[in-house]
Amino acid sequence: MPASAIITSALPYANGEIHLGHIASTYLPADIFTRFLRLKGVEAYHICASDDFGTPILIKAEKEGKKPEDYVAHWNRRDAEDFAAAGISFDLFYRTSSPENVKFVQDVFKKLKQNDHIYEHDVVQFYCEFDDKFLPDRYVVGKCPFCGADNQYSDLCEKCGRVPDEILEPKCAICGRPPVKKQSTHYFFKLSNFSQELKKWLSENARLQTDVKNYVINWINEGLQDWDITRDLSWGVPIPLDEAKGKVFYGWFDNHLCYISTAAKLIEEKGGDGKKFWNGSDIYHFIGKDIVYHHYLFLPAMRMGINREYKLPDYIPTRGHLMLQNQKISKSRNWYIGLRDFVSVFNPDYLRFYMASIVTYSQDDLNFDFDAFAEKINNELIANVGNFVNRALSFTQKSFAGRVPEAGTLAQDDSEIKDAVAAAVKETGELLSANETDRALRRILALSNQLNQYFQKKKPWSEKDTAAATLYVAVNAARSLAILLAPFIPFSAEKMWSQLGLQGSVHKQSWDSAGQFAILAGHALGRVEPLFKKLEAKEIEEQKAKLGRK
Ligand code: 2FM
Ligand code: ZN
Repeated sequence: MPASAIITSALPYANGEIHLGHIASTYLPADIFTRFLRLKGVEAYHICASDDFGTPILIKAEKEGKKPEDYVAHWNRRDAEDFAAAGISFDLFYRTSSPENVKFVQDVFKKLKQNDHIYEHDVVQFYCEFDDKFLPDRYVVGKCPFCGADNQYSDLCEKCGRVPDEILEPKCAICGRPPVKKQSTHYFFKLSNFSQELKKWLSENARLQTDVKNYVINWINEGLQDWDITRDLSWGVPIPLDEAKGKVFYGWFDNHLCYISTAAKLIEEKGGDGKKFWNGSDIYHFIGKDIVYHHYLFLPAMRMGINREYKLPDYIPTRGHLMLQNQKISKSRNWYIGLRDFVSVFNPDYLRFYMASIVTYSQDDLNFDFDAFAEKINNELIANVGNFVNRALSFTQKSFAGRVPEAGTLAQDDSEIKDAVAAAVKETGELLSANETDRALRRILALSNQLNQYFQKKKPWSEKDTAAATLYVAVNAARSLAILLAPFIPFSAEKMWSQLGLQGSVHKQSWDSAGQFAILAGHALGRVEPLFKKLEAKEIEEQKAKLGRK
């Protein structure tokens, strides 16, 4: 275990809402991991920000007749609310357009330039004489030269997925008029300077996923292209050179630097030294597999380019995409579920529980299936965990007036449960440390299953002589379950904690204490009631029917 850790989740673009796909690949695994580290006593901070710059955002703001500042501020607030509703607990959710990030990005650029990793090169760009603007990326639409699809962006054909060298029949995306070509001086980052160093770093870092590393090393072997980090726009981090007036950085130059500038802000607000803390911590960047190139090449190369003033990541947990009912998520086909909508219908812990159970530590794609969701919640969360906790507490309530009874000497099967709890705490901890979220959850469910069997065998409702010991064991095991489940289902774990009549928050406990029976005889339980409500077939069918509907 490190003494301190910084965990980042990929920054969501400030132009649309968070959906279930984001949660599965990135935010939930990162949140579970951070919550676990906090319980382990690690000084762990989960950092994120809205990714505010880039042409798609500017175009959308213009379409809505809003100033880009106001437009991104809206999405920043909205994302923060949605994350909170789903229990994603950031220590700071900031923005790439913050003054701290702007300054940091400009400083990094100056250092990269001093170190000879930046060069100038004239490029020919589309330019709209009517709007008096250069037209980077999405500002030009036209016909895809590969598949002939109309109305495609010049930087990506959404029909065939290819990046056109030159779009046919180009038109300005703002006014629809054909653009002209004009020369512009651009700044390039010499990614190719770092080929050897990147290769060494990747092959020597055993903590990075092997399958990802292998294909990244292949990309290096095929030859790295230098990056054009310039955009002729007004919305972005201004390039800090007199001769670069009106030019800003490409969004991928500034966004990952925001991991550092945001962490530094948080640490400095706590009275610490941002750089020192960063360099003394384990660094985790949680991402989805679509942004591997940026995180395994561009990001480390830029840190190498400033002499590793800020250390490189120790881990880049990279996960696959989420499918919905076995089909690709698509907003335009409404094959898509927004996070806000989902948690306004279902308990956010149901989403977390189900997602955590399917999310592997790999790049394999995942599938959200409504029937499997209902089954998981009803048969595992409710029939297994909920059932045990509720029976343990209700029987104690009924038979011992809500006070934990004196156990006397524990029988062998009672002690076995004590040992089983301790073993589960240890093994679940090992799995969570290794980021094996789904396996960790399965390990907890196996324990809960064993607890149900124990309770059923001991029959405290009829076996009067042993009922006291059974309930003492069961209530203590319920406390352990609450701590073990706290990273996965934070809202419900907190409810368990208060039903157990325990003080403070379950999230402030120590993970290791879950391995002990800390509730003593005589302790009074809180108000006991069912923790969960079963999912009905009707509500599931209703949600399924919404998919694909225009
Ligand atoms: O792909 C995306 O959604 C980007 N906004 C992720 C940025 S992560 C970064 F900052 F490195
Ligand atoms: Zn135009």
